[in-house]
Amino acid sequence: MSDAKLTINGKDYEFPVVEGTEGEVGIDVARLRGETGAVSLDPGYGNTGSCQSAITYIDGENGVLRYRGYPIEDLAEKTTFEEIISLLVWGELPDEERLEELRTTLAEYAVIDEGIKDVLSGFPRTAHPMAMLSACMSALESYYDTSGSSDEDVLRVIAGMNTLAAYIYRYKQGLPYVYPSKDLNYAENFLHMMYGTPGEDPDVNEVIAEAIDKLLILHADHEQNCSASTTRMVGSAKATLYASVAAGVGALSGPLHGGANQRVLEMLQSIQDDGGDLEKYIDLAKDKSSEFRLMGFGHRVYKNFDPRAKILKTSADDVLADLGKDDPLLDIARDLEQVALEDEFFVKRRLYPNVDFYSGIIYRALEVPTEMFTVMFALGRISGWVAQWKEMLDDPAFRIHRPRQIYIGEGEREIPPISER
Ligand code: MLT
Repeated sequence: MSDAKLTINGKDYEFPVVEGTEGEVGIDVARLRGETGAVSLDPGYGNTGSCQSAITYIDGENGVLRYRGYPIEDLAEKTTFEEIISLLVWGELPDEERLEELRTTLAEYAVIDEGIKDVLSGFPRTAHPMAMLSACMSALESYYDTSGSSDEDVLRVIAGMNTLAAYIYRYKQGLPYVYPSKDLNYAENFLHMMYGTPGEDPDVNEVIAEAIDKLLILHADHEQNCSASTTRMVGSAKATLYASVAAGVGALSGPLHGGANQRVLEMLQSIQDDGGDLEKYIDLAKDKSSEFRLMGFGHRVYKNFDPRAKILKTSADDVLADLGKDDPLLDIARDLEQVALEDEFFVKRRLYPNVDFYSGIIYRALEVPTEMFTVMFALGRISGWVAQWKEMLDDPAFRIHRPRQIYIGEGEREIPPISER
């Protein structure tokens, strides 16, 4: 593809063009400032590629999501989360021997240092789980030698995320901790540590474990989303993997990112608390002067539908049917979904139910506390954060991330005496 041409102050420049596997086009402006003195300006980076990556591909116009070339629909149906970890972090699906090795190592590393319990006990039981998760992930580094192989760090961070998520729930509920079992897979161990009984053999509901496993797969990675970019940014300073993913947790906690699934249930609860008058809230959503916004609908990348949501819609039906849940909030959710899929106002604005809408319904049916929903998102996304961090450090073009700016403040001026301020 021919170079991109740019004219600044009457002078012509040419910059190379990079073409991706699926034909995406990027203008390589690495030399822009050096040659022209100008920088590109793209607040929010919506038009800026921060890297070339081989991990995940998204086609927002056509609702395509692939991990290392495999469609998300096939992965959700035919793999387990341990297989996704191998695929995202090391680039290939594992054979049976490597899969069993992964499962047993993750179960072994899920037994984290007892000192973390002292870190947890310093929090009020009312603390938000995401704040606790970020702090405890940072603290976890202190108990392990991070100068070792990055593969050990990778598996300790992924395994530790599982245990920390469950421990945070148990601490907030005032319940004793449940240790992981060496015989369980990642999703099963999460449920055992969340809902098990100390000292008793695991008794995990396989329907729920499979639903959790699928949710982890669907949340595993999503290109350069806010939390993955944050993890890359922190890791680019050669901070440890623990510190980098702790920062990723912080970014994910925001209501504009991972916090959206919690906001979906809070929205449904407020509709029910106000008498369940759905028509009233549909009208509010259509009213520009209203502050009410529907949470869990539409997406900044997917223009027609979120492929993860299509998969979760079926999964939500299966889980609700298997568990025989009769929950008024879920009834409101179903009615709201119907309106969003049929009402011209929502269809025209592509406000279709997204991954946060259906994951919120499933977590509710699985009796995961609402404020733990974003922790569940982190439990899947940890695999993507680690993969993105590793790919960045392995990149021959690796460098610290240090964006530029356009200064619009005051020109140089003298400091007035305080009597004249
Ligand atoms: C995600 O999966 O990270 C969310 O859909 C947000 C995004 O991709 O920007």
